[in-house]
Amino acid sequence: MNAPTEPRETTDPDEILRAVLDPERRGALYPWLHRLRELAPVHPSEGLHVPGGFVLSRYEDIRAVLRHPQAFSDERNADIFDVGEAGAVFTAMMRKQILYLSPPDHDRIRALVARHFTPRAVERWREAAEREVERLLDAAVARGKLDLVKDVAYPLPIAVICEMMGIPKSDVPLFFQWAHDFARRGDVAALTPDVIRRGEEATAGFRDYFLGLARERRKQPKDDLLTLIALARDARGPLTDDELAATCVILLQAGHETTADLISLGIRGLLLAPRELHRLRAEPGLMPDAVEELLRWDTSVQISQRRSRVELEIGGQRIPAGATCVLLNGAANRDPAQYPDPDRIDVGRSPRDHLAFGLGRHRCLGASLARVEIQAAIAAILRRFPRLDFDGEPAFRGSFFLRGLASLPLRG
Ligand code: HEM
Repeated sequence: MNAPTEPRETTDPDEILRAVLDPERRGALYPWLHRLRELAPVHPSEGLHVPGGFVLSRYEDIRAVLRHPQAFSDERNADIFDVGEAGAVFTAMMRKQILYLSPPDHDRIRALVARHFTPRAVERWREAAEREVERLLDAAVARGKLDLVKDVAYPLPIAVICEMMGIPKSDVPLFFQWAHDFARRGDVAALTPDVIRRGEEATAGFRDYFLGLARERRKQPKDDLLTLIALARDARGPLTDDELAATCVILLQAGHETTADLISLGIRGLLLAPRELHRLRAEPGLMPDAVEELLRWDTSVQISQRRSRVELEIGGQRIPAGATCVLLNGAANRDPAQYPDPDRIDVGRSPRDHLAFGLGRHRCLGASLARVEIQAAIAAILRRFPRLDFDGEPAFRGSFFLRGLASLPLRG
């Protein structure tokens, strides 16, 4: 069935969900989300590939679910990835990632790694991030061409997390391919047999690699995150092999495309709002607030899921026990009831309550690290390119679930 052409003309919320998933419409996502919020803010639908789903688009309702003591993320939320035997290795690993675990397993694994991602702990990596951005920009300038996505946004987060974890630089190119294939497999709206097969290979590759490196670190500990994870113990003992591999993969994967996306979507946003760009250049002290505003304005992780353990009443509508709430983070961040004039970027707005990093038990573990990397990248780009501008059309990736750019050519 064809998706509609104009959000305003549309009265069927499921048509809107089809438009939202349409890879051709990435540039103009938010008018559709506004229309969905107006028409059906709590909408029972499987249109986003979630069985038994209720799609929520109001800030207040989404926050209520994220804070609800009886709404959980659990391994059944990973059912969204289940394509049977052909994709079983990937699905099994997703079920073990902390994002899909409920307490006590979730809290136990999160507690083992969280202390390495506090704002204080990640400050130690700011200099490494700044150094890496300069190096990447030097290389692009020497080539005489800058595609922000390929040249800076993609390589930066993976370089930083690999350095944190203690992964040798020579292995980074291998990770690039696995990370790419793993991320594509996560886009359940665009699966093909080839994407599924590559996802299986990437998962098995990651698993063997991390288990091998963990064995080495147990024999010969180093000053890196992998050693800390390999040696971590609590009252129940060390992490199992499945838990260890899944935790290493989520640390690498959850912070890779997401952070890359925010760097390039953020620069795109600033170029579309030249007065705000000028304001930020004039007042560089606004950078932390500006980054929060850019995270609010356009974000990578567009959906979160929570399963209701009891009947919930959200936004005046009943959601039965056992249903899955599909939370549209991007729609929440543009809700006019929460943020006046939500489509406008205001680098002084300071929207500290935005939902780009989620909220509650599963709030983003790497938020402070992402902030450091995004701030470092945007600051360096603005400093080094005083006449920064588009040098061609930005191209969006196809995915709705993980929104981002495939390329952003710039000149400066
Ligand atoms: C701008 C970049 C990032 C964005 C937009 C982002 C977004 C999110 C969101 C929305 C969640 C919550 C998902 C949910 O509740 O269903 C989340 C969870 C998570 N993020 Fe991030 N993230 C980013 C960067 C990072 C980085 C750099 C890391 C680590 C190196 C990371 C690691 C994680 C982990 C481990 C979780 C799961 C936490 C849990 O289940 O307890 N993220 N992220």
